[in-house]
Amino acid sequence: MQTLHVELGDRRYPIFIGSDLNPRNLLEPYIHGQQVMIVSNTTVAPLYLTTYVAALEALGKKVATCILPDGEKYKNIEYLNLIFDALLEAGFNRDATVLALGGGVIGDMAGFASACFQRGVYFIQVPTTLLSQVDSSVGGKTGINHPLGKNMIGAFQQPQVVLADMAQLVTLPTRELSAGLAEVIKYALLGDVDFLDWLERHIDDLVGRDPERLAEAVYRSCAHKARIVASDEKEQGERALLNLGHTFGHAIESYMGYGVWLHGEAVAVGMVMAADLSQRLGWISMDDLERTKKIIQRAHLPVKCPAIPLDEFLGFMAHDKKVLNGQLRLVLMSTLGKAIITKDFDVELMKQAILANQEKA
Ligand code: NAD
Ligand code: GLY
Repeated sequence: MQTLHVELGDRRYPIFIGSDLNPRNLLEPYIHGQQVMIVSNTTVAPLYLTTYVAALEALGKKVATCILPDGEKYKNIEYLNLIFDALLEAGFNRDATVLALGGGVIGDMAGFASACFQRGVYFIQVPTTLLSQVDSSVGGKTGINHPLGKNMIGAFQQPQVVLADMAQLVTLPTRELSAGLAEVIKYALLGDVDFLDWLERHIDDLVGRDPERLAEAVYRSCAHKARIVASDEKEQGERALLNLGHTFGHAIESYMGYGVWLHGEAVAVGMVMAADLSQRLGWISMDDLERTKKIIQRAHLPVKCPAIPLDEFLGFMAHDKKVLNGQLRLVLMSTLGKAIITKDFDVELMKQAILANQEKA
């Protein structure tokens, strides 16, 4: 097992990464009261809930559960309220802990519920998808969707501890594994060309779910995110680099309808568009662009999106949270393995980069 820390002063917390982690031993120091609400969903609970309930009961905790339906479409205020109902029905109070057992949807909802319930209770993340292990469980962003926008209602709520168990990835659907790999590749492209070399050597092992290689990929990804979050927790600057490929990706997700394309799939094509624009601007070479596409393809991810009318694509991009004073800012690559956030790009070149990476109509 490897341990990393997110250095946030007195809110510093560990991320434990390994296979077949022992929840009883690892969680004990981080549960402050007697009450634990496990939030999970109808897919993950049958696989892993009993292990966590047993571990917490063995610690003498009062354990209650809230099992939500599975899906992004339930990440809303109505289903968030079910977590509050469960907390109140169980008679939980201010020293309760909410434990998220699931992917990013459950992590975001349980985290937000823990930030709001009685103005804030403790929170623990047990991410069970690769995407949630390398991204959403780390850094404290939590929230729900609104009919007018994704992740529009939320709070920063750092967990007490994160347990990333590679053994849980065995049951993950193949498409979800690849979607998580998109976020892993993102860290290499935005800040670590050595990690890109490593991924090029080991991507087949990752696709094949080799637990040791997966643990190393999760460790290196979380180390990047932890460093960035420690220096810019509330996204005033550097943290925005974590959105490489996301502005283009959100446009694809929004146009397709959420759930049709997975977030990671859309981000994969978004990263190709960002790399393509960086190449058109003369910042990276054609070889760098091809390397970017190749590693994405080897992770069994798409490098082109369906044909989307340009005006609609640009319309969705304009809703991005990085728009500042009406001006679109993009995360691009100043060199391969180094991202920057910039508003200084030629819009015509951006349109070319979008169109070049779509299927023909
Ligand atoms: P998800 O939570 O929907 O999980 C994907 C699917 O895998 C679901 O059907 C889930 O039930 C299933 N699943 C989860 N673990 C499994 C396991 N071990 N075995 C079998 N099936 C399993 O999706 P996700 O990709 O984990 O997360 C996406 C969500 O995360 C989005 O809502 C996104 O907005 C959010 N997100 C948040 C942050 C953040 O910083 N808070 C960052 C990135 C993404
Ligand atoms: N997923 C982007 C962030 O956590 O900032």
